[in-house]
Amino acid sequence: MKRPAIGIFGAGWVGVVTGACFAELGHEVVVRDIVSERIEALQAGRIPFHEPGLAELLERNRERMSFTLDAADLAPTGLMFVCVGTPPTYSGDADLSAVWNVVEQLPEQEERSLLVMKSTVPVGTGEKVRESLDSRGLAHVGYVSNPEFLAEGSAVKDFMRPDRVVVGAFAGADGETVAALYEPLEAPIVRTDVASAEMIKLAANAFLMTRISFINEIANVCEATGADVVKVAEGIGLDHRLGPHFLRAGIGWGGSCFPKDGVALKQLASNSGYHFQLLNAVIEVNELQKRRVIGKLEKHLGKLRGKTIALLGLAFKPNTDDLREAPSLVLASRLLAEGAEVRAWDPVADARHLLQGVTFCESALEAVTGADAAVIVTEWDELRSLASAEARDAMASPVLVDGRNLLDPEEARAAGFTYEGIGRAASPLAALPETEEREPQLEQ
Ligand code: UGA
Repeated sequence: MKRPAIGIFGAGWVGVVTGACFAELGHEVVVRDIVSERIEALQAGRIPFHEPGLAELLERNRERMSFTLDAADLAPTGLMFVCVGTPPTYSGDADLSAVWNVVEQLPEQEERSLLVMKSTVPVGTGEKVRESLDSRGLAHVGYVSNPEFLAEGSAVKDFMRPDRVVVGAFAGADGETVAALYEPLEAPIVRTDVASAEMIKLAANAFLMTRISFINEIANVCEATGADVVKVAEGIGLDHRLGPHFLRAGIGWGGSCFPKDGVALKQLASNSGYHFQLLNAVIEVNELQKRRVIGKLEKHLGKLRGKTIALLGLAFKPNTDDLREAPSLVLASRLLAEGAEVRAWDPVADARHLLQGVTFCESALEAVTGADAAVIVTEWDELRSLASAEARDAMASPVLVDGRNLLDPEEARAAGFTYEGIGRAASPLAALPETEEREPQLEQ
C-alpha cells in the first residue's frame, strides 16, 4: 500500500527526527524551514545537532526526503506536521508566533488536508487555530493534535517504539487518518479530543519533573539522616504502582522541554485562575537542587574564592549537545560569582559562547589537572572510569562531587577520593554535624 506523503514545518530536532522516522516507514517526506543554513546543511547530508542514530536514518532514506525553504513545496502533501519551536516568553507563556506563521503560510490546497500539531502548545491552542482556519475559509483543512514524546538522545527509538501515540481530533475521520500512520509501530493509540491531547503532553512532562524533584528532596533528607537514595529509589521503584523510572537523584533537570513546559503549564493554570501549588514547588526544588553543589564544595574546601573547580559534562544530559537550561550553566556562573576558577569539559557540547571566564579542556583528565575539586555534572559514559589513580594524582586535592551518582562511592573512596554523591551519606554518623569538643566543666 502506498503510504501518503508527509510535509513537516520546522527542521529542528523534532521535525527532522519525525521526518526521518516517517521516511523510514515508507513515506515521502518534505521538510520546510525558514533558516537557509539549516536547509542547506540538511540538503548536503549534515545534521545541525547531535542525535544518535539519526544520521544513519537520513542516509538510508535520502531518496524519500527533501528539504526546502518554500512552504508551497508542501502543497502536494495532504498531511502537514507542525514541528516548530514554542519557546517561553518573558511571562512564561509559550511563544506561539512560529505556530501562527505556519498557519498563515499554509500552501493552497484544493483537496482536504490535515494540519497535525506536534509542537508542545498550551491547552486551547487547537481551538484557536481551528477558529482561525475557519475564518479564513479553510474549513477543508482538518486539525489534529499529536504531541511528541521524544527524549533527546533516544528520539529515534522513542519514535519507532513509543509507549503510546496520542491523537486528539475535532473530526473523527481526521483522527483515524493520523492514527493509521502509526499502525506499523503497534503501539497503543489514545484517541481523544484536542484539548485533552494538548494536556496529556504537558501533564506527562510535569509528572516526570515531579518524580525527579520528589526523589531529589528524598535525597536531601537521606543526606541529613544517613540513608542512601540509590537504594531507596530501588526499593520504591519495585512497587509496580510506582515503577523505577525518573527516580535518579541528581542536580536537577534541564533541557529544552522540562523548564519551558513546566513554566508554561504553571502559567496556563494561573492564566485560568488556578494556582498550581505542587508544580510551583516542583520547579523551585529543581532550582535549589542545582545550587546545593556549592554547599557541598564549601564543606570540603571552605570559601571557594581562588579555588579551581572542574565541571565534567556540560550538556543537560548525556548523548546530546544541548545546553539549553543545563544545570552546568547555573553551576559555572555560581562558581565564577564565588570567585572560583572553573575548568570545564564535555565530549560534545560546546559552551564557549555561553560561559565567559571558563577554561575549556579537551579531556576530563585535563580538566581535573590541578583542580581542588571536580563535579560530575552530566553522566557521560566517559566519566565512569574517572576514579583512577591518574586523575587523583593530577588533582590538587581529590575532592569529587558526583552530581549524578554515576560512580560507586566505595570504589571512589578506595581510589583515594573524598567522594560526595547526591543523597548518599556513608553512615548516619557522617550525616551528623561536627560539634566542637568542649573542655569538661568542673563543678564549683
Ligand atoms: C523530555 C521527556 O522525557 C520527553 O518524553 C518529552 O517528549 C520531551 O521532554 C519533550 O517535551 O520534548 P528530554 O528533555 O529530552 O525529554 O530529556 P529527559 O531524558 O526526560 O531528561 C530531562 C532532564 O531530567 C535531564 O536533565 C535529566 O538529567 C533529568 N533527569 C531525568 C533526572 O535528573 N533524573 C531522572 O531520573 C531522569
